[in-house]
Amino acid sequence: LHVNRQIALLQPYPFERLAVLLHDLRPPPGTRTIDLSIGEPKHQSPPFILEAAQRALAEAARYPSTRGSTELRMCAAAWLERRFSLPAGSIDPERSVLPVCGTREALFTIAQCLIDRCETAELVIMPNPLYQIYEGAALLAGAEPRYVNCLEPGGFVPDFSAVSGREWQRCRLLYLCTPGNPAGAVLSSAMLAQLLELADRHDFVIASDECYSEIYADESHPPAGLLQAAAALGRADYRRCLVFHSLSKRSNVPGLRSGFVAGDPELLAVFHRYRTYHGCTMAPFVQAASAAAWNDEAHVAANRAAYREKFSAVLEILQPVMNVSRPEGGFYLWPQTPVSDQEFAGRLYSQHNVIVLPGSFIGRTQDGVNPGANRLRMALVADLDDCIAAAHAIRSTLNAL
Ligand SMILES: Cc1ncc(COP(=O)(O)O)c(C=O)c1O
Repeated sequence: LHVNRQIALLQPYPFERLAVLLHDLRPPPGTRTIDLSIGEPKHQSPPFILEAAQRALAEAARYPSTRGSTELRMCAAAWLERRFSLPAGSIDPERSVLPVCGTREALFTIAQCLIDRCETAELVIMPNPLYQIYEGAALLAGAEPRYVNCLEPGGFVPDFSAVSGREWQRCRLLYLCTPGNPAGAVLSSAMLAQLLELADRHDFVIASDECYSEIYADESHPPAGLLQAAAALGRADYRRCLVFHSLSKRSNVPGLRSGFVAGDPELLAVFHRYRTYHGCTMAPFVQAASAAAWNDEAHVAANRAAYREKFSAVLEILQPVMNVSRPEGGFYLWPQTPVSDQEFAGRLYSQHNVIVLPGSFIGRTQDGVNPGANRLRMALVADLDDCIAAAHAIRSTLNAL
């Protein structure tokens, strides 16, 4: 088949690798599967969001614009300014915000939009372990991915000291994920400020994936964001900055496919042009539902409380027997295993019908290490009882080793 040869560079998705790993294993008969492998929120979607969608269903009779409704952009801009204490009016709903159909497609398309195929050897720098879209986006855009390890001694934030001056020079796009998937580490404002300085010096764009920003442990310390760090430096023009926000985790509506990108108006003008051809526009009733969701915080606080309860219950069971800590943000645990992560995941499934993601499947070997090796990613998305049952299953798998 004569097709785009970069397709062959794409790695199998972690869940495909997991299906292969588990294929020949049989869980105990009569047991029900508890699946903590996929980060799909399972708390109830707030009825008021679905009702807003329903009320706007008649709008399906018209094509939506790429830019989306003014109402949605105003809600998103106001939410950003409130949430990250940005200078009033610094997010212009006309120029600084674009709706996207979930952050996944936007994180992918931003690389297609920014990478210059005529320039050879452009680098896209990304955390490792990673959300695999960053890698695929870089490869399909014709750039080279540069993975930056996130290890426990560094608090699971990327060790940017490993990136050479020559590599920063070649960098065109830097993906950040804060809070991170999988370890939930939050990048400090100081680190974001350093990265902004590097972006200026080496002329690259920072794409900050903040889709977990609303799921955090300490109600009095919400994670900082890239725009907040920029504003604190007095650069409220948000030059070189793009942030990616999503309703999927915040509001438990992953099926709505709703998020937005905000930041540098010049970059967003180019992204808008790209997107008019890309053709991914948000359905009008999704826009109406999204506007309602961004305007409400009560359901988000309740969502955080539900995750907090699950973290406490599961950590009480696991912390005495394994190296695992409460993340600052996100809904994953990232415990260490005494045997290989793949072996442990296989045993857990065949002994207890519990599925977790082997950490090595979401890591790449960089500087001789795969930072996901001997780690598991557990998404605490199932209900409290299932999360507790899964934690007991992990404990007894450990005991049986
Ligand atoms: C790190 C990260 N970024 C982005 C996404 C995509 O989320 P959505 O497209 O639903 O906004 C996910 C989803 O699992 C994720 O884990």
